[in-house]
Amino acid sequence: EGDKMMAGRFVGSTDPIMEMLSASITVDQRLSEVDIQGSMAYAKALEKAGILSKTELEKILSGLEKISEEWSKGVFGVIQTDEDIHTANERRLKELIGDVAGKLHTGRSRNDQVVTDLKLFMKNSLSIISTHLLQLIKTLVERAAIEIDVILPGYTHLQKAQPIRWSQFLLSHAVALTRDSERLGEIKKRINVLPLGSGALAGNPVEIDREMLRSELEFASISLNSMDAVSERDFVVEFLSVATLLMIHLSKMAEDLIIYSTSEFGFLTLSDTYCSGSSVMPQKKNPDSLELIRSKAGRVFGRLAAMLMVLKGLPSTYNKDLQEDKEAVFDVVDTLNAVLQVATGVISTLQINKENMEKALSPEILSSDLALYLVHKGMPFRQAHIAAGKAVHLAETKGITINNLSLEDLKSISPLFGSDVAQVFSVVSSVEQYTAAGGTAKSSVSAQIEQLRELLKRL
Ligand code: ARG
Repeated sequence: EGDKMMAGRFVGSTDPIMEMLSASITVDQRLSEVDIQGSMAYAKALEKAGILSKTELEKILSGLEKISEEWSKGVFGVIQTDEDIHTANERRLKELIGDVAGKLHTGRSRNDQVVTDLKLFMKNSLSIISTHLLQLIKTLVERAAIEIDVILPGYTHLQKAQPIRWSQFLLSHAVALTRDSERLGEIKKRINVLPLGSGALAGNPVEIDREMLRSELEFASISLNSMDAVSERDFVVEFLSVATLLMIHLSKMAEDLIIYSTSEFGFLTLSDTYCSGSSVMPQKKNPDSLELIRSKAGRVFGRLAAMLMVLKGLPSTYNKDLQEDKEAVFDVVDTLNAVLQVATGVISTLQINKENMEKALSPEILSSDLALYLVHKGMPFRQAHIAAGKAVHLAETKGITINNLSLEDLKSISPLFGSDVAQVFSVVSSVEQYTAAGGTAKSSVSAQIEQLRELLKRL
């Protein structure tokens, strides 16, 4: 009992269930490395401030080094009274080097320590996530470059709308993901502000050199106000928000691919590597990977909602409620890393079925082109739309497709129809009309690919 860290103030023991509720060591031991990194920097600054002698600093640094080894070898022994990673590491330091370990926490608080640790962890995690995200974008872009000549129906309201290039579809998802990548870059700026040296709430009383801490821990700047620094979790909320939007984009892509892979559509076949079978129905190949991506979007948003609820109504500075932040961050980091790599795998291994895509390009999909034909003959678009609609209706009543209407049939709708109307009924000519920037003509799709390749160099 006398060994307990707060033994001075507290009498008797805490309720064991309360201890379980309060302990975060099973979760926050993932911060073991960054916690030691932070402590090493702080020890050096304490030496500069005259709190530690050179030999004391050496002792502390070599003790921390040993603890770091224990963690990386998986032999660090967590004991029952280790509440969190900070108290566990300090307890171990005392076992290894004796009472001098007790000097390390001078002027520091777990309040500035934990938020520093979390930021260090997130800096590392964000660059890994960004790398996986860029890989996914690159996979979409390069696939689009290879399969640029493939045409399939584009949908609105899940109804056949207009023919598009398969590449236009792939790039639509790539472009959304580039915004997520930019957003990840933008939040790094605010993660990069160092809170260490803010103490419990009032600041640091031993004239710690925060600029030295900043450069040791490779942050871009130091926080401006100690009370804000120990309690703000804006960077957590921003990360979870950016992650949520990213997951929503992946969920949309997953849903598209699930639909296209059904036998009813048959546009694509997913690799067996990313599917599972049914224990009952041998014919089935279920798109589990894509379904999981879709569902994880809900999971990640749940983490964001939970974090916002934790923050709502908190008074200023540190409150234990904030301990919840780490589980949210770790879970979302792990989810993103897994989901991004699986999405890349799915995209790079799926096979497209061009014949089925072609078959789905039924002539009605060119109805808006029929209207456009009349526009080129001088008819105002609104009238042309009505005329084309009449053609669709006429074909329907005759039980034929619009491309099989005779010239007489068409002339009965508008005298502007001529024999050159036949050229309307080509999906290639249709997509090639969309030459304006961003459109589905080959030239515009190629331009998109070039721009994305350039952007990828800068992201
Ligand atoms: N385990 C705590 C957390 O994760 C560390 C900070 C505890 N500070 C305190 N004053 N109780 O937030």
